[in-house]
Formats: sequence, C-alpha cells, structure tokens
Amino acid sequence: MKLWEKGINPEPAIIEFTAGRDRKTDIALAKWDIIGSMAHVIMLNDVGLILDEERNDLLKALHSLFVCDEEGSLIIEKDVEDIHSQIEKEMASILGVTGKKIHAGRSRNDQVLVDIRLYTREEIDKLSLLVSNLFNRFQSLSGRYKDVLLPGYTHMQPAMVSSFGLWFGAYAECLADDILLLSGARTLNNRNPLGTAAGFGTTLPLNRKLTTELLEFDDLLYNSAYASLSRGKVEMAVASALASLAQTLSRFSMDICLYMSAEFRFIDFPDEYITGSSIMPQKRNPDVFELIRGRTNIIQTLPNEIAMLTSNLPSGYNRDLQLLKQLIFDAFADMKESIEIMLLMLNNIKVRKNITESPLYNTIFSTEEVNRLVKDGIPFRDAYKAVSEMVKNSSFSKTTIKDYHHEGSLGNLCNEEIAKIFKERMKSFKNKTAAEMAEKMMEYVK
Ligand code: ARG
Repeated sequence: MKLWEKGINPEPAIIEFTAGRDRKTDIALAKWDIIGSMAHVIMLNDVGLILDEERNDLLKALHSLFVCDEEGSLIIEKDVEDIHSQIEKEMASILGVTGKKIHAGRSRNDQVLVDIRLYTREEIDKLSLLVSNLFNRFQSLSGRYKDVLLPGYTHMQPAMVSSFGLWFGAYAECLADDILLLSGARTLNNRNPLGTAAGFGTTLPLNRKLTTELLEFDDLLYNSAYASLSRGKVEMAVASALASLAQTLSRFSMDICLYMSAEFRFIDFPDEYITGSSIMPQKRNPDVFELIRGRTNIIQTLPNEIAMLTSNLPSGYNRDLQLLKQLIFDAFADMKESIEIMLLMLNNIKVRKNITESPLYNTIFSTEEVNRLVKDGIPFRDAYKAVSEMVKNSSFSKTTIKDYHHEGSLGNLCNEEIAKIFKERMKSFKNKTAAEMAEKMMEYVK
C-alpha cells in the first residue's frame, strides 16, 4: 500500500530502494508520529473539520497504537513505505471512513518534520542528563584529587606543574560550554512545523497555534517554505553541538590512552576494565577509550556529512533529506553509549600519586623558580636568564599548590563557580515524556 497509489502498480525494486532503511529507522519516530497525529486530530475538530465523535474515535485508536508501540508490537509492514503510511493504514483499518480523515491539511513532509523535532527534543533532553552526570563526575574527581600533582605538557614536552584537580576540572568546564551549544540547538529545534503541509501551507482553516501549544513547542515555525528548508538546518545545529561534545570526549580519551601508557603511567584501571592481547601476555589495553575516541571522531565529521547532503538542494522537499534521519539517530546513540561507558570507567579510575617527584620532572618547576625571584624584586627577564642557567644544574625549590592563588589555578580551581554556570545552562532541558503527552491528549476525549 502506498499513500500515493493511483491505479498503477509501482515497480517493487523502486519502492524497496526509495523506502531504503526507513522501515527500520522510522520505528524510533512512531510514538512521535502518533502524538503529532493526536494534536492534529484535536485541532481538526477545533476548526470544525471533524466531529466530536470522530475526534474521540481517532484519539482512542491513536492511543491504542501508542500502547502497541510501547509494547514493541508496532511494525512497518513489508509493503508500507514509512511510519506515516503505516499509522494511516492502521487508522483506516481500525476506524474505516473516519480513519481516512486524519491526513486532511497535512503532508508527510510536515509530518516527518514534526516527528523529527519531537524526537530530537527528547534525545537532547536525555543526552543533557548524561552530560550532567559526566560533569558531576569530572568535578568530584577534580575535588578529590585537587592536591595530587601532575606534570603539565605543552608540545608534548614537560612544561609546568599541573594537578589532577586542574585536569579533571578542565573537562568539566569543557562540558559547561558543550551544554550551552546543546541548549542552543534545542531552542532552534523547538518550533512547530505542523500545518505547513507540503511546504506551501493549505487552504483548510488550520489552527497552528493550537498544535504548537499541544505539542509544547516554544512557537510556530511560521513560513511554510522555511519549514521545509529547515530540514537539514536543525540537523546541522544539532550535529555541531554533538560534534563539540564529541571533541571533548575524544580529547579526554586521548589523554587517558597516553596517561595509561607504560612511559607515563599517570593513571590506571582495575584489570576487569581493561583488555588484553591474543598473543602478547603482558598487554593491558585501553580499548574502551580508543573506541570512544574513534566513535566521537566520527561524530565530529557529522556537520560535514550534513553540509554535503544538503548543499546542492533546491528549496522545497527533496527525497535526499530522508537520509538525514539515519545520520542523526546514529550520532545520538553513539554519543549516549560513549558517555555511559565513560562514566563507568571514571567510577574506577586510579590516579598515581608522587608522579612529579621523579627527577624527570624537575624542570617543570623552573617557571615557579623564576616567579619566586620576581617576587623578590628581580626583573622577569633577568630572573628567567638566571634560572635558565640553573636548569643546567637543575636545583629548584619545588612549588607547593599553596603558591597558586588566582582564579582557575591549581590552588583555586573555582569548581563551584563552574558548577553554577553549568547548572544555569541545564535549566533549558525539560519536557514531558511521550507517555505524559499522550495522556494529556486523551483528556480531549469527551
Ligand atoms: N520518508 C520520508 C522522509 O523521511 C517521508 C516524507 C516523504 N515525503 C515525500 N514527499 N515523499 O523524508
């Protein structure tokens, strides 16, 4: 069954190719397609296009499909193109003539837009909770190990004294910026395309404000043609936010792989959390972090993929856009799995104390020695020269963390200030669950 069949039997190979992976991918959109349809039905009744009893029957039937989907028994059948077609088919088979009224004033183009926006909103909200857990984890590790010194590197050469507190805390502040980008993408996403139909509006007297309210969007997406153009734009904003978050995870994973190597040995994990080799008995490998690094590096290519996919598209709906779904769905899944496993690893991380006592790191205290002379009134450049001489015979009075006072330095990490910023930015992530929204729609059955 094709919604657009007009008496000619479509060639099966064409249908298979154009449906592509939608039969599987679209299942993730099912609950949102149903909720979007419920809002559409309530609105069609409000503007007088369907009767009260028809509204009640349609809402009840949609709710029963919602329950099927929750139980996992809603599938897209072999001869059906996508979730929108499947739901319409189910409605016609449950309700007959009334079921066939549901598509008045909409197109699959605005339907898929609304589904993706509701899906994206929920995924962003779920992801924000994971990011928040990771933020808290980094901050508590930072607090716990604030006095444990670590050599800081620039150009991959020992540079200055750092601490585990500073290092873990840096990744927490990274996440505070990532969450801001994610909330920006959420704001861009949270507008209602429903009612823009195929991208040109409709002559039916729709009440778009009502569906906006019902679906808890911040506002309408006004221009009908822009609604179509926005497919790809929202994905680009989401992909950029995900790429930024991916960058944080990837760089942290690289640090872990480096710090766990035999030459560094700054950190370690219990044997149960690391992997071995099939041939070399001694190997203790950080596979988890290598895979997080690989997966998050791939996520960082997502904005490029979206740019390529959309760059030569004229305005209006084009079928290429269908391919965006898989890219975004996979990226959310990879990102969530990566954060979850990283949280597990961080619950078990072991840090080595006394690293900076190795003679290898004596010179990382040379800048502090320069500063000590500066505090005694010696001009910086003279002090620098004097200490350069001393580097050759390397004798320094080592810095203690107490010597660091300014904001954001070893002795004054300002983790509370960073937590305040993060908490403020977290306020934008919160919506009803799909089940709560479905219940709310059912209150219109009267
Ligand atoms: N599966 C399609 C997609 O994701 C749904 C929209 C189909 N619209 C159309 N005009 N063929 O884009």
